[in-house]
Amino acid sequence: MSKTELYTQSGVAMTCRSYQEYKEMFMFKEDLFSKGKILDIASGASSFIAELNQMEYEAIAVDPLYKLTSEEIYDLGKKEINIASQKLSQNENLFIWNNYKSLKHHDEIRNRSLNQFIDNYRKDKHKEKYIPATLPNLPFDNNTFSLVFCNHFLFLYQEQFDFKFHLDAINEMVRITKKGGLILIYPLVGFKDEIYPHLDKLIDSLNTNDVSAKINETKFRFLPSATHYLKIDK
Ligand SMILES: C[S@@+](CC[C@H](N)C(=O)[O-])C[C@H]1O[C@@H](n2cnc3c(N)ncnc32)[C@H](O)[C@@H]1O
Repeated sequence: MSKTELYTQSGVAMTCRSYQEYKEMFMFKEDLFSKGKILDIASGASSFIAELNQMEYEAIAVDPLYKLTSEEIYDLGKKEINIASQKLSQNENLFIWNNYKSLKHHDEIRNRSLNQFIDNYRKDKHKEKYIPATLPNLPFDNNTFSLVFCNHFLFLYQEQFDFKFHLDAINEMVRITKKGGLILIYPLVGFKDEIYPHLDKLIDSLNTNDVSAKINETKFRFLPSATHYLKIDK
Protein backbone atom coordinates (compact mmCIF):
# COMPACT_ATOMS: atom_id res chain seq x y z
CA MET A 1 0.00 0.00 0.00
CA SER A 2 1.52 3.34 -0.98
CA LYS A 3 1.63 6.24 1.49
CA THR A 4 -0.70 8.29 -0.71
CA GLU A 5 -3.56 5.94 0.19
CA LEU A 6 -3.42 6.25 3.97
CA TYR A 7 -6.43 8.59 4.27
CA THR A 8 -7.91 10.42 1.28
CA GLN A 9 -9.14 13.92 1.99
CA SER A 10 -10.32 16.72 -0.26
CA GLY A 11 -11.16 20.09 1.27
CA VAL A 12 -10.94 20.66 5.02
CA ALA A 13 -12.99 18.30 7.18
CA MET A 14 -14.74 19.44 10.34
CA THR A 15 -13.90 17.02 13.13
CA CYS A 16 -14.83 16.98 16.81
CA ARG A 17 -11.99 15.83 19.06
CA SER A 18 -12.54 15.76 22.79
CA TYR A 19 -10.63 17.40 25.66
CA GLN A 20 -9.05 14.04 26.46
CA GLU A 21 -7.76 13.68 22.89
CA TYR A 22 -6.21 17.17 23.02
CA LYS A 23 -4.68 16.28 26.38
CA GLU A 24 -3.10 13.11 25.01
CA MET A 25 -1.88 14.80 21.81
CA PHE A 26 -0.26 17.79 23.53
CA MET A 27 0.52 15.99 26.80
CA PHE A 28 -0.42 19.06 28.84
CA LYS A 29 -1.01 19.24 32.56
CA GLU A 30 -4.01 21.20 33.84
CA ASP A 31 -1.82 23.75 35.66
CA LEU A 32 -0.98 25.18 32.22
CA PHE A 33 -4.48 26.66 32.08
CA SER A 34 -4.08 28.83 35.16
CA LYS A 35 -1.81 31.14 33.12
CA GLY A 36 -4.74 32.98 31.49
CA LYS A 37 -7.01 33.17 28.46
CA ILE A 38 -7.05 30.14 26.11
CA LEU A 39 -7.77 30.05 22.35
CA ASP A 40 -8.39 27.04 20.13
CA ILE A 41 -7.99 27.88 16.43
CA ALA A 42 -9.76 25.74 13.79
CA SER A 43 -11.69 24.24 16.67
CA GLY A 44 -14.46 22.75 14.51
CA ALA A 45 -17.02 20.80 16.53
CA SER A 46 -14.43 19.82 19.15
CA SER A 47 -15.67 19.79 22.76
CA PHE A 48 -12.26 21.06 23.98
CA ILE A 49 -13.48 24.62 24.61
CA ALA A 50 -16.85 23.48 26.01
CA GLU A 51 -15.04 21.25 28.50
CA LEU A 52 -12.56 24.02 29.44
CA ASN A 53 -15.46 26.40 30.01
CA GLN A 54 -17.15 23.79 32.16
CA MET A 55 -13.98 23.77 34.28
CA GLU A 56 -14.40 27.55 34.48
CA TYR A 57 -11.36 28.52 32.44
CA GLU A 58 -11.67 31.47 30.08
CA ALA A 59 -11.54 29.74 26.70
CA ILE A 60 -12.55 30.77 23.18
CA ALA A 61 -12.79 28.85 19.90
CA VAL A 62 -12.47 30.17 16.36
CA ASP A 63 -13.47 28.49 13.13
CA PRO A 64 -14.95 29.76 9.85
CA LEU A 65 -17.85 27.35 10.38
CA TYR A 66 -19.19 29.28 13.38
CA LYS A 67 -21.30 31.26 10.92
CA LEU A 68 -23.50 28.14 10.81
CA THR A 69 -26.41 27.27 13.12
CA SER A 70 -26.05 24.50 15.72
CA GLU A 71 -28.32 22.28 13.58
CA GLU A 72 -26.11 22.80 10.51
CA ILE A 73 -22.93 22.06 12.46
CA TYR A 74 -24.50 19.00 14.06
CA ASP A 75 -25.49 17.58 10.65
CA LEU A 76 -22.02 18.29 9.27
CA GLY A 77 -20.38 16.75 12.33
CA LYS A 78 -22.48 13.57 12.09
CA LYS A 79 -21.67 13.28 8.39
CA GLU A 80 -17.93 13.73 9.06
CA ILE A 81 -17.94 11.06 11.78
CA ASN A 82 -19.51 8.58 9.37
CA ILE A 83 -17.15 9.48 6.50
CA ALA A 84 -14.08 9.23 8.76
CA SER A 85 -15.26 5.92 10.15
CA GLN A 86 -15.76 4.50 6.69
CA LYS A 87 -12.32 5.69 5.50
CA LEU A 88 -10.58 4.41 8.64
CA SER A 89 -12.25 1.01 8.32
CA GLN A 90 -10.76 0.64 4.82
CA ASN A 91 -7.21 1.11 6.13
CA GLU A 92 -7.64 0.18 9.78
CA ASN A 93 -4.39 -1.77 10.03
CA LEU A 94 -2.31 1.26 8.89
CA PHE A 95 -3.18 3.24 12.01
CA ILE A 96 -1.85 2.73 15.53
CA TRP A 97 -4.69 1.91 17.92
CA ASN A 98 -2.92 2.60 21.24
CA ASN A 99 -4.98 5.58 22.31
CA TYR A 100 -8.22 4.64 20.59
CA LYS A 101 -8.94 1.05 21.50
CA SER A 102 -10.98 0.36 18.35
CA LEU A 103 -12.86 2.09 15.58
CA LYS A 104 -16.02 1.73 17.68
CA HIS A 105 -14.30 3.47 20.62
CA HIS A 106 -13.06 6.22 18.23
CA ASP A 107 -16.66 6.78 17.02
CA GLU A 108 -18.04 6.85 20.57
CA ILE A 109 -15.53 9.53 21.62
CA ARG A 110 -16.32 11.66 18.58
CA ASN A 111 -20.10 11.38 19.01
CA ARG A 112 -19.85 12.33 22.68
CA SER A 113 -17.61 15.28 21.82
CA LEU A 114 -19.96 16.49 19.06
CA ASN A 115 -22.94 16.42 21.45
CA GLN A 116 -21.00 18.29 24.14
CA PHE A 117 -19.89 20.90 21.61
CA ILE A 118 -23.43 21.40 20.28
CA ASP A 119 -24.88 21.86 23.79
CA ASN A 120 -22.34 24.58 24.53
CA TYR A 121 -22.50 26.22 21.08
CA ARG A 122 -26.30 26.46 21.30
CA LYS A 123 -26.07 28.33 24.61
CA ASP A 124 -23.57 30.86 23.25
CA LYS A 125 -26.16 33.15 21.66
CA HIS A 126 -23.87 36.18 21.41
CA LYS A 127 -20.90 34.31 19.95
CA GLU A 128 -18.67 35.17 22.87
CA LYS A 129 -16.97 31.76 22.93
CA TYR A 130 -17.41 30.58 19.34
CA ILE A 131 -16.11 33.23 16.98
CA PRO A 132 -16.28 32.82 13.19
CA ALA A 133 -12.79 33.62 11.87
CA THR A 134 -10.27 32.36 9.35
CA LEU A 135 -6.50 32.12 9.49
CA PRO A 136 -4.31 34.01 8.71
CA ASN A 137 -6.41 36.94 10.04
CA LEU A 138 -7.92 36.63 13.49
CA PRO A 139 -10.11 39.31 15.13
CA PHE A 140 -8.12 39.68 18.35
CA ASP A 141 -5.84 42.37 19.76
CA ASN A 142 -2.10 41.83 20.10
CA ASN A 143 -1.02 39.92 23.23
CA THR A 144 -4.49 38.59 24.17
CA PHE A 145 -4.01 34.87 24.92
CA SER A 146 -1.73 32.91 27.24
CA LEU A 147 -2.29 29.62 25.49
CA VAL A 148 -3.11 29.01 21.81
CA PHE A 149 -3.93 25.61 20.31
CA CYS A 150 -4.25 24.60 16.68
CA ASN A 151 -5.11 20.93 16.36
CA HIS A 152 -5.50 18.96 13.14
CA PHE A 153 -5.58 21.83 10.73
CA LEU A 154 -2.35 23.54 9.73
CA PHE A 155 0.16 20.93 8.58
CA LEU A 156 -2.40 18.17 8.16
CA TYR A 157 -3.74 20.10 5.15
CA GLN A 158 -0.24 20.99 3.95
CA GLU A 159 -1.04 20.24 0.32
CA GLN A 160 -3.90 22.73 0.19
CA PHE A 161 -1.94 25.69 1.56
CA ASP A 162 1.47 27.14 0.68
CA PHE A 163 4.46 28.05 2.86
CA LYS A 164 3.37 31.71 3.00
CA PHE A 165 -0.01 30.69 4.43
CA HIS A 166 1.62 28.56 7.12
CA LEU A 167 4.09 31.29 8.08
CA ASP A 168 1.43 34.03 8.06
CA ALA A 169 -0.94 31.82 10.08
CA ILE A 170 1.65 31.12 12.78
CA ASN A 171 2.83 34.74 12.86
CA GLU A 172 -0.81 35.68 13.45
CA MET A 173 -0.90 33.24 16.38
CA VAL A 174 2.30 34.83 17.72
CA ARG A 175 0.79 38.32 17.40
CA ILE A 176 -2.25 37.48 19.56
CA THR A 177 -0.25 35.51 22.15
CA LYS A 178 1.00 37.29 25.29
CA LYS A 179 4.68 37.52 26.11
CA GLY A 180 5.37 34.40 28.19
CA GLY A 181 2.52 32.57 26.40
CA LEU A 182 2.57 29.33 24.49
CA ILE A 183 1.36 28.12 21.06
CA LEU A 184 0.83 24.39 20.45
CA ILE A 185 0.30 22.89 16.98
CA TYR A 186 -0.33 19.23 16.08
CA PRO A 187 0.24 17.19 13.95
CA LEU A 188 3.29 18.01 11.82
CA VAL A 189 2.32 15.53 9.10
CA GLY A 190 -0.20 15.52 6.25
CA PHE A 191 -2.54 12.77 5.06
CA LYS A 192 0.32 11.01 3.32
CA ASP A 193 1.80 10.57 6.80
CA GLU A 194 4.79 12.66 5.76
CA ILE A 195 6.35 15.44 7.86
CA TYR A 196 5.68 18.96 6.57
CA PRO A 197 8.62 19.42 4.16
CA HIS A 198 9.32 23.09 5.06
CA LEU A 199 9.32 22.63 8.82
CA ASP A 200 13.00 23.57 9.34
CA LYS A 201 12.65 26.69 7.18
CA LEU A 202 9.45 27.62 9.04
CA ILE A 203 11.06 27.17 12.45
CA ASP A 204 14.09 29.24 11.35
CA SER A 205 11.80 32.05 10.16
CA LEU A 206 9.82 31.96 13.41
CA ASN A 207 12.91 31.92 15.60
CA THR A 208 14.22 35.18 14.11
CA ASN A 209 11.04 36.77 15.44
CA ASP A 210 11.69 36.83 19.19
CA VAL A 211 10.00 33.46 19.82
CA SER A 212 11.36 30.00 20.47
CA ALA A 213 9.82 27.30 18.25
CA LYS A 214 10.70 23.69 19.06
CA ILE A 215 9.53 20.23 18.04
CA ASN A 216 8.41 18.06 20.98
CA GLU A 217 7.53 14.39 21.01
CA THR A 218 4.06 13.24 22.04
CA LYS A 219 3.19 9.79 23.33
CA PHE A 220 -0.11 9.93 21.43
CA ARG A 221 -0.20 7.53 18.48
CA PHE A 222 -2.61 7.17 15.58
CA LEU A 223 -1.24 8.38 12.22
CA PRO A 224 2.08 6.51 12.37
CA SER A 225 4.35 9.53 11.68
CA ALA A 226 2.34 12.02 13.77
CA THR A 227 4.71 11.63 16.71
CA HIS A 228 5.55 15.30 17.37
CA TYR A 229 3.94 18.69 17.92
CA LEU A 230 5.26 22.21 17.52
CA LYS A 231 5.70 24.24 20.71
CA ILE A 232 6.27 27.97 20.35
CA ASP A 233 7.22 30.00 23.42
CA LYS A 234 6.74 33.75 23.09
C1 LIG B 1 -10.03 18.73 10.95
S1 LIG B 1 -10.92 20.03 11.70
C2 LIG B 1 -10.16 20.15 13.28
C3 LIG B 1 -11.17 20.48 14.35
C4 LIG B 1 -10.64 20.35 15.78
N1 LIG B 1 -9.48 21.16 16.00
C5 LIG B 1 -10.32 18.91 16.08
O1 LIG B 1 -9.13 18.59 16.27
O2 LIG B 1 -11.23 18.09 16.13
C6 LIG B 1 -10.25 21.43 10.81
C7 LIG B 1 -11.04 22.71 11.02
O3 LIG B 1 -10.33 23.79 10.36
C8 LIG B 1 -11.29 24.75 9.97
N2 LIG B 1 -10.67 25.66 8.98
C9 LIG B 1 -10.64 25.54 7.64
N3 LIG B 1 -9.97 26.57 7.10
C10 LIG B 1 -9.57 27.37 8.13
C11 LIG B 1 -8.84 28.58 8.23
N4 LIG B 1 -8.32 29.19 7.15
N5 LIG B 1 -8.62 29.12 9.45
C12 LIG B 1 -9.09 28.50 10.56
N6 LIG B 1 -9.79 27.35 10.53
C13 LIG B 1 -10.02 26.79 9.34
C14 LIG B 1 -12.42 23.90 9.43
O4 LIG B 1 -13.65 24.61 9.38
C15 LIG B 1 -12.43 22.71 10.39
O5 LIG B 1 -13.40 22.86 11.39
